[in-house]
Amino acid sequence: MKRISSIFLIIILLVGISCKNESSDKKINPGEVWNDTDGNPINAHGGGFLFHNGKYYWFGEIKKGKTWLVPGQTWECYRTNAGGVSCYSSENLTDWKFEGVALAPNTSDSTHDLHTSKVLERPKVIYNEKTKKFVMWLHIDSQDYSYARAGVATADKPEGPYSFIESIRPNGQMSRDMSLFKDDDGKAYHIFSSEMNATMHISLLTDDYLKPTGTVNRIFIDKSREAPAMFKHKGKYYLVTSGCTGWSPNPALLGSADTILGEWIEMYNPCKGPNADSTFFAQSTYVLPIEGKADQFIFMADRWNKTN
Ligand code: GAL
Repeated sequence: MKRISSIFLIIILLVGISCKNESSDKKINPGEVWNDTDGNPINAHGGGFLFHNGKYYWFGEIKKGKTWLVPGQTWECYRTNAGGVSCYSSENLTDWKFEGVALAPNTSDSTHDLHTSKVLERPKVIYNEKTKKFVMWLHIDSQDYSYARAGVATADKPEGPYSFIESIRPNGQMSRDMSLFKDDDGKAYHIFSSEMNATMHISLLTDDYLKPTGTVNRIFIDKSREAPAMFKHKGKYYLVTSGCTGWSPNPALLGSADTILGEWIEMYNPCKGPNADSTFFAQSTYVLPIEGKADQFIFMADRWNKTN
């Protein structure tokens, strides 16, 4: 189960490159509250990104309202009501327009997977060229994190609204922290912490991206890695993960592989400089390739603030 000791959140972008809008002097300022184009703080934690028709879309957990400690847990299980998934869009990565709630929470049926009393985390979206659907996967859990499932939803437009299909235990296995990765050949993979968070699974999805195929690669066995963020560079696959310390930061680890379903090698902490050993007090969520710049990526992480 989770070892948790520190929560909620201000989302930050940790910039591995100088990401400057070429038409202005705007910059991304890591660790600062970031307002959308309406002047409201961006509320999109555990974020995932999609580039579609010249625009970036940012999906994330909506967190607001009271924070409390779930009683009877052996770890610092702080939480707030699940607010669904937000969507923002941008053409320049600095100005983000709020597109609305992409996946709405359920406010009336406490048994529903998307009920506000549940945990809805780390939403990621990919586009399926064959079905023309935008497919979202996200971590769905009960407030004590014993449900350990992944949910899937689809939409006809990137910003949604997304229709919820179901939650599953992929291939019969627990699924908590998760991500998606769409490869150049159109194959898509669901990457998740499984087996009580001890082992990471890379699970090939069906061609419509809605179900697991049963083909799985178990990696970092018994290494207790979380918060997967995968990217590809020059034909090689890379995966940034965090350690398993709940809301508390810890050193990130970069892994790599020549083939996604092949052998994964543990490399090193990819963070450099002051506070690198706590991933700059944050936890990985996504590595965003910059469109049109083959060698540029933005590493994104959440700086959780457990009590608020
Ligand atoms: C973290 C995880 C978060 C959230 C938290 C709850 O390790 O990355 O997404 O699940 O645990 O304790």
